[in-house]
Parts: sequence; structure tokens; C-alpha cells
Amino acid sequence: MKRVIVILTVIGMFATANWALEGEKVFAQKCAVCHKHYYIPQSKLERNYRNYNMDLNLNAPTLTELSFRLKDQVGDRTLDAEGQKFEIEEYLTKFLQNPSAFPTILPKKVKELFGTMPPVPVTEEEVEALADFMYDYAEKMMIEHGVKRYSYEEALKKAKKENKIIMIEGYLPYCRGCIWMDRNVMVEPKVKEALNKDFLLVKKNLLTEKLPLGIKRLGTPSFYFIDSDGKTILEMVEGTGTVEEFLSLLKSVKKAKKR
Ligand code: HEC
Repeated sequence: MKRVIVILTVIGMFATANWALEGEKVFAQKCAVCHKHYYIPQSKLERNYRNYNMDLNLNAPTLTELSFRLKDQVGDRTLDAEGQKFEIEEYLTKFLQNPSAFPTILPKKVKELFGTMPPVPVTEEEVEALADFMYDYAEKMMIEHGVKRYSYEEALKKAKKENKIIMIEGYLPYCRGCIWMDRNVMVEPKVKEALNKDFLLVKKNLLTEKLPLGIKRLGTPSFYFIDSDGKTILEMVEGTGTVEEFLSLLKSVKKAKKR
């Protein structure tokens, strides 16, 4: 019996790995001629759109943009991942047959630059793989291009050793402000530099996780700064801010830190 379970687990692992690969492959074959699948920071994209697409000369919105917009605009974004992926799959099935029949999920200024997409034939299996791949893509890019994330336990140890401040970012999976911060602020080089130098980032999903030291949660996104002793709360704030505002917050927290 034990052996059967091991074999099934191994098959399961291969199946999952293939699945992810499959979606990436389908996208590369059928979508990537128009939709760039490498990461372009949001600040660069916005500059490009302000310049009527003359900086980057894109054929279509990027895969990262589509991934964010699908999650934000299609189906119920408060559902769990599997539930919403299913809704995105249903949407893509119909959309790819006749794109012009659907109201756009893109911001108006983006849609206006690109006109309308032609129909792209795909099989049922391909759509399922695409929905899976596209749903996960944006978050994957945020992890790859943002600052390193630690568990609270890891951060505690490292903070003591390196005399750094722990910054907990409290979020909800469907909170628009949280996604906005990840996309527009936390990936910017100046912010990454400041965070990497003096802070350790811990992300906590406030729907499922508790904050340490009995801290009562604020709204989302919220940022809780704890000194390297693991005991002193230096600052707690909620809401979004620009790169400059966030940098000045980090600066003031650093000033409040005990030496
Ligand atoms: C020939 C170029 C081309 C190909 C191939 C292509 N797209 Fe697009 N796509 C576009 C353009 C241009 C837009 C923006 C205009 C629009 O929304 O229709 C777009 C927009 C979209 C949108 C947002 C639509 C909206 O306005 O709400 C989605 C979702 C999308 N594409 C998915 C896909 C997927 C998935 C594939 C591959 C199966 C794919 N596209 C293949 C050109 C293309």
C-alpha cells in the first residue's frame, strides 16, 4: 500500500509539473506573438502608455498586465484561487472565439491604444492550462521582481543577527490597494534598495494569519514595523502611497529605531 501511495504521489508531481508547463507552452505558441511574456515594470508601462506606446512599441498588453486584469475583473475575486480560475477559464473559452463581443477588462487608455484582438482557436484542454498559467503569472512576477520575503520566524532570527527592522505587510488576496502597492511601489529599484538595506519583509494574509505581539490588525494594505529586538513596535500604518511617500515612511521608521 505504501508503495502505491509513493507511486501515485510521484505521478501526481509529474502531472502538476506538466500542467504548468503546458499553459506556458500554449501561451508561447498562441499568444506570445502579440502579448509579451517577459516582465516590464508597471512604471515603465505607464510611461509607455502616456507616450502613446512609442517607448516600447507593444503589439498588445503584456502577459503580466493580462494576469492582473483577469484576476481583478473576471469572476468573483473574493473566491479561492481554484474557484476564480474556473471562472476565468469559462470567460477565456468564449472570449477567444469572439473577442470583439466582450466589454473590455483593460483600462480604457490601454484598450484605446491597441484596437481589438482577432479570434484565436484553442482546445478545451488548452484553455484550462492557459487559465491556470495566466492566473498565477502576475503573483509569480511580483515574487521574482520584488524584495525577498521571509517567514516571521526567519525574520526574527535574521533581524537580531543583522540589526534590521522587520516590516510586516498585511494584505488580503483580493485587496486592490495591496496589489497596487506590490505592482507600483514594492518592485521599484529605490524601494528595493532601501528595504534590502535595513528591513526584512514578511507578508501576512490577514484573512488567515495572525499578527505577532498581539497586534490588532488595521485595514489593508497595512505595514507593521518591529525593531530587531522582536518586541518593540516602531510604527503601524495603513493605506497606499507613492514611491516617494513610502521611502519617507521607511526613513522615519529608521529614525525611530533604537541603535
Ligand atoms: C494577433 C495578436 C494577438 C494574439 C495572437 C493574441 N492576442 Fe490577446 N490581445 C491582442 C490585442 C491587440 C489586445 C488588446 C485589444 C483588445 O482588448 O482586444 C488583446 C487583448 C487580450 C485580452 C484582454 C481583452 C480585453 O480587452 O478585455 C485578453 C484576455 C487576451 N488578449 C488574451 C489572449 C490569449 C489568452 C491569447 C492566446 C490564446 C491571445 N490573447 C492572443 C492581440 C492578440
